[in-house]
Amino acid sequence: MPQLARRMGRAKPSAIMQVADKAKRLKAEGRDIISFSIGVPNFLPGEHVYAAAREALEKDSGQYGSNRGSDALLDAFLAHIEQIGLTGYGRVNCATGIGAKHIIYNLAEALLDEGDTITFPVPYWTSYLDIAEIVNAKVDLLPCPASQDYKMTPAQLDAALAKKPKVFLFNNPSNPTGMVYTKAEVTALADVLMKYPDTWIITDDIYNRMLFDGLEYTNFVMARPELHDRVIFIDSLSKTYGMPGWRVGFMAGPESVAQAVAVLNSNHITNIPEIVSAAAIAALCGPQDVPTQKNAEFQAKRDQVMAVMDAIPGIVCPRPQGAFYVFPDISAYFGKSHGDTLVSNDVDFCNMLLETKGVACVPGSAFGEPRALRISYTCPTPQLAPGLARIQEFCAELK
Ligand SMILES: Cc1ncc(COP(=O)(O)O)c(C=O)c1O
Repeated sequence: MPQLARRMGRAKPSAIMQVADKAKRLKAEGRDIISFSIGVPNFLPGEHVYAAAREALEKDSGQYGSNRGSDALLDAFLAHIEQIGLTGYGRVNCATGIGAKHIIYNLAEALLDEGDTITFPVPYWTSYLDIAEIVNAKVDLLPCPASQDYKMTPAQLDAALAKKPKVFLFNNPSNPTGMVYTKAEVTALADVLMKYPDTWIITDDIYNRMLFDGLEYTNFVMARPELHDRVIFIDSLSKTYGMPGWRVGFMAGPESVAQAVAVLNSNHITNIPEIVSAAAIAALCGPQDVPTQKNAEFQAKRDQVMAVMDAIPGIVCPRPQGAFYVFPDISAYFGKSHGDTLVSNDVDFCNMLLETKGVACVPGSAFGEPRALRISYTCPTPQLAPGLARIQEFCAELK
């Protein structure tokens, strides 16, 4: 029997999807399940997005499109990033993909040879590790526990870059923690990056419009424009616009990197479909009231989740200021029992929570931090308080 490629031995299905699937299965069996698991925004884009898609359907050319993305889509993206202060980019600096995940995958192919090192902070978004493993890169992880607010320090970055990795991968605001680096923190990290000219910098900032408490977004290039030729900025429609299934992601960075992504696109996806592209342009250029309103709702939900996290004894939970995740450290409960069942780690905790209380959360080990779990709080508002109350009840029952 022929064998699969060796790389498939390293490829894993997403841990997050496994929890979501188990929650779905229990729901189908008639259980009352509240899901805080998958990171979907749970809202739909404005009507103008659907109108643009319908119009594109009427005018469909039926042809292949640009590997990089249509000029109109690239221009819409460029105008969009100018609004957040990212200037000095042209179409040649940009490329599109089937979601940010696909862009990151392409970047891994474009920047990492087998055995090259990629370094990134922990907790990390699950797919970073999975993608690095598929391309057979070495991974250098930088632990950033709750005690340091899940944020990397300049000294940690300095020590990691001194080992000369090929790529440094950063994520701000963060999935899974929701933490946001302040302007001063980004600048301090950018100063370290300046010292290491041989490392590419990928900054996955797909939650850049989902900030709370009046916080302003900033990134390495904005802090230190000299980094322009090494930083690759990643964006996506998925979360901000409630369009995860439409699959549109972007990058802006050095010309050579954008060109490499376009070449890779030419060898697998060819192009983003015309109708999706029209919807994406409408989302980026049209009224922004839906994303703005949703962001305000997420901030209120963040407050609701934090009020409960702060009230549960033993939980350590840095206060997120962006995205739609909360990442409590629950390790104080490890070694306790629920009824006759011992909860010895995050996976046990999440399994028991799902089985006994019908609440689905993702174990922190999916993000490299086994002391925590992730709550994604985009569920319908009426489910939030009961879901949180069940977590509180569950913790109280652990003895
Ligand atoms: C940090 C981060 N980057 C990238 C992605 C992928 O986004 P997309 O839907 O655009 O592929 C996600 C999705 O959860 C994410 O949380």
